[in-house]
Amino acid sequence: MKKCIVYYSKTGHTKNVVDKFNDFDVFVVSAESDDPNNDHPVLTNIPDILTYDHIIFACPVHGFQMSKIMRAYMIGLKDLNHKVIDLFVTHLFRFSFLGGNQTLKQMTRIIKARGGHVRYQTSINRRSKNSNDVMIEIIKKYSK
Ligand SMILES: Cc1cc2nc3c(=O)[nH]c(=O)nc-3n(C[C@H](O)[C@H](O)[C@H](O)COP(=O)(O)O)c2cc1C
Repeated sequence: MKKCIVYYSKTGHTKNVVDKFNDFDVFVVSAESDDPNNDHPVLTNIPDILTYDHIIFACPVHGFQMSKIMRAYMIGLKDLNHKVIDLFVTHLFRFSFLGGNQTLKQMTRIIKARGGHVRYQTSINRRSKNSNDVMIEIIKKYSK
């Protein structure tokens, strides 16, 4: 089974989690500008995941929603049928209802609209005391 992680990270926290995974090809989504408020970012790196069977999508929460750069990438995807898809997002605010849950829902909607099914999803509050345990747990769970 071919496995990859596709992520966007503005300040490095999402990347830090991604870097802890082994045995995945890793692709970063990038844009001309990292401005989180740009509604129509021009992407400069658009990972091709067509041949992958298991994909993890990861990004930060920006303004109670998914980062607009990751959104621009994901809405450009076509068919996600028959793929194992896991998600995680990183966020700062104490409660997941302040953006984390909403972002995961938004990502799930985009995936479903492309025929995909989300297996696991996690919102990582990077300030929480147990964020390290959460990371270890998702790496174990998502790597299966
Ligand atoms: C423009 C902007 C908006 C943000 N909005 C939220 C938010 O709504 N909720 C939240 O919990 N964290 C928010 N954060 C914090 C980030 O989600 C958090 O720091 C995340 O881990 C950053 O990931 P990154 O380092 O991979 O970019 C925001 C950060 C930025 C820069």
